[in-house]
Amino acid sequence: MKNKDLRPIGIFDSGVGGLTVAKRVRKVLPGENIVYFGDTARVPYGNKSRDTIIRFAGEIVRFLVKKDVKMIVVACNTASSFSLSAIRKIYKGPIISVISPGIKEAVKVTRSGRVGVIGTNSTIGSRSYNKMMAKRGHGIKLFSQSCPLFVPLVENKFSKDNIAYLIACKYLKSLKKEQIDTLILGCTHYPILKNVIRRVMGPKVTLVDSSSAVAKEVKESLIENDIMRKGKLSRGWTRCYVSDDVQGFKENAGIFFKEEFSVKKVAL
Ligand code: DGL
Repeated sequence: MKNKDLRPIGIFDSGVGGLTVAKRVRKVLPGENIVYFGDTARVPYGNKSRDTIIRFAGEIVRFLVKKDVKMIVVACNTASSFSLSAIRKIYKGPIISVISPGIKEAVKVTRSGRVGVIGTNSTIGSRSYNKMMAKRGHGIKLFSQSCPLFVPLVENKFSKDNIAYLIACKYLKSLKKEQIDTLILGCTHYPILKNVIRRVMGPKVTLVDSSSAVAKEVKESLIENDIMRKGKLSRGWTRCYVSDDVQGFKENAGIFFKEEFSVKKVAL
């Protein structure tokens, strides 16, 4: 078996949050190299318009193409909601978004056919999860709720504070009423709030962390396209690129990612 396809996997997000996906990819595929781009100068995407997000995503994808990536993972739910077809026009290799893996997983685990999804204002407003559920989850009812304060709560390290619990109670009230049995965490940051969300929703609701589902899909796609790094493997590297200060990224990255990585600031 040869050392096949040493090219890195490209992962991008509006900021640090996509490192939740990088972390899972690293776990499932420790031998793969990763180029991560975090658009820290322009985060958050969660309250921006479709056109702006498409433009930002296009610029990032062109950057990743220059890095010779063999696959692109759109780790950001908001970018996945709006920019997939635009990205497909720029990049011809395999593209994995976070939306369909999350939906597939939810379809698999729901018993009652009543599923919830939470995300940023833009993700929920785009109805991207509803459209995907209509395709893949015949007969399953999807209830959605935006939770715009969750991202700043996580980034300001309030995820274990009582304030996170109180805000979660407010946001999740309507979903509780709908008696869902499965909840998709449709945003990069929400896995960090898993304990709080579980406390509010109760133990009977299964939380779908799409980062694990995405990592599984990345592996399947590498195998399918025959571009997996094979042979005697040393551990792969993670190189991060950001559009704003390196220091700010490093400080917050630790919330999501515990492995070694390099960071460089670049202009798109
Ligand atoms: N990465 C974004 C997402 O998953 C959350 C942060 C932002 O609003 O940019 O939707």
